[in-house]
Amino acid sequence: MRTCALILAAGRGTRMRSRLPKVLHAAGGRTLLGHVMTSVAGGGIAPADVAVVGGYGAEQIRAAIGGSGAHFVLQEPQLGTGHAVLAARDWWRGYDRVVVVHGDMPLLSAGTVAGLAAGRADAVLATATPAEPRAYGRILRDAQRPERVVGIVEDKQASAEQKRIRELNAGFYSFSTAALAPALEKLGTANPHGEYYLTDTIAILAGQGLEVSGLALEDSDECLGVNDRAELAQLDLYIRRRKAAALMANGVSIEYPESVVVDAAVEVGMDTVLEPGVQLRGASKVGENCRIRTGAVLENCELGDGVLVRPYSVLENARVGAGAQIGPFTRLREGAEIGEQAHIGNFVEVKKSRVGRGAKANHLAYIGDAQVGGRANIGAGTITCNYDGKAKHATRIGEGAFIGSNSTLVAPIEIGDGAYVAAGSVLTEAVPKDALGLGRARQVNKPEWAAKRRDQH
Ligand code: UD1
Ligand code: CA
Repeated sequence: MRTCALILAAGRGTRMRSRLPKVLHAAGGRTLLGHVMTSVAGGGIAPADVAVVGGYGAEQIRAAIGGSGAHFVLQEPQLGTGHAVLAARDWWRGYDRVVVVHGDMPLLSAGTVAGLAAGRADAVLATATPAEPRAYGRILRDAQRPERVVGIVEDKQASAEQKRIRELNAGFYSFSTAALAPALEKLGTANPHGEYYLTDTIAILAGQGLEVSGLALEDSDECLGVNDRAELAQLDLYIRRRKAAALMANGVSIEYPESVVVDAAVEVGMDTVLEPGVQLRGASKVGENCRIRTGAVLENCELGDGVLVRPYSVLENARVGAGAQIGPFTRLREGAEIGEQAHIGNFVEVKKSRVGRGAKANHLAYIGDAQVGGRANIGAGTITCNYDGKAKHATRIGEGAFIGSNSTLVAPIEIGDGAYVAAGSVLTEAVPKDALGLGRARQVNKPEWAAKRRDQH
């Protein structure tokens, strides 16, 4: 049995009022389409067997699925959900079964995808029976044999009696491709939107005596969709709460869980504490026993165990070794690699640099394109002058070197192992191992100069 999945994502989402197609808006740190693609993969359907139907903002959708291995199918113009499935017919025809899901429903679970894929009826559709009413399609069942679904009536066309039906069409299906292809041919557009409705295929298949069954969703929230920005914000909150709950269940402490922002893909180790207002974004990985203090923002960072990040530090694409201490007010930029037990303090910026084990830069420094040896000490106000206006140059600071405060190291430059740099130096040449580099004017004292000046006035 060859099974594929088709994700419908060609609609514009007018109420988003956006130049971006609806499915490319993000909730919980991932696009709506990204969530759906993740669940489809989790449900056992490989990217090569997935196609996304795009239309509005087609090039943006094509770019978004870019490296995933999924296929792109263009639906132009967009004449409804049935038309979208038809637009991809040449692609899914080669499979035995096709799972069809809406791209704007980020809470779709991998389990539902797997359940639909395992279905053997000619059509299986996921249904939800939420407590609150929603303007979704209503499920029509055979009065004599209620296990048989006989149709779906859209909210706009439902009679007052049909509107009271609480079982709703979620927007997730699977079909035998042999049954689906001819049913799509029979679709018409006699409805308020003048569109080809995928939902109408259900009555067509049931009318032919084919088997149509419902798959009840365990959680009716799974088919919460996004139509406007307010719903996007609600779903974002929902996903973040769920993420925080999952982290806590795995042994992470979170103070004021409603205040932290943790993206879906982030991993956090046991006994780590997240203080209020922390943001962990992208593909960040935080080790065990870390403490991330209030206001810290981490994006695509990797932290070893026992790392302390003090308040209001901003870390992007950086790696921090076990036991290191960062902040407060530290900025780590792309390619910063902080060694184990190192200390990077307030108002220190590090970019594309490796800082060795136990090294310290506790205050007010810029370290760019540098290698800093283990146990080196970088004094306050030290600057690696890595840029000459045209090109970037490297600085190498040896093991255990001591860089006095307010030193300016003009790269390319090398400070040897164990060397000292006198405070206030401007250095343009290498300092050998164990030497003292002094690059400043010598001090001159003029005795009694100040007293004489006072007497003159
Ligand atoms: C649809 C269902 C409804 C169900 C609801 C669940 C139909 C006719 N109705 O209604 O029964 O309860 O979803 O949310 O299917 N799309 C395309 N091409 C198109 C039109 C839509 O790819 O030409 C995509 C959209 O991008 C979206 C999905 O299909 O991801 C659903 O379309 P939408 O217009 O939101 O359908 P609903 O009116 O919500
Ligand atoms: Ca919708």
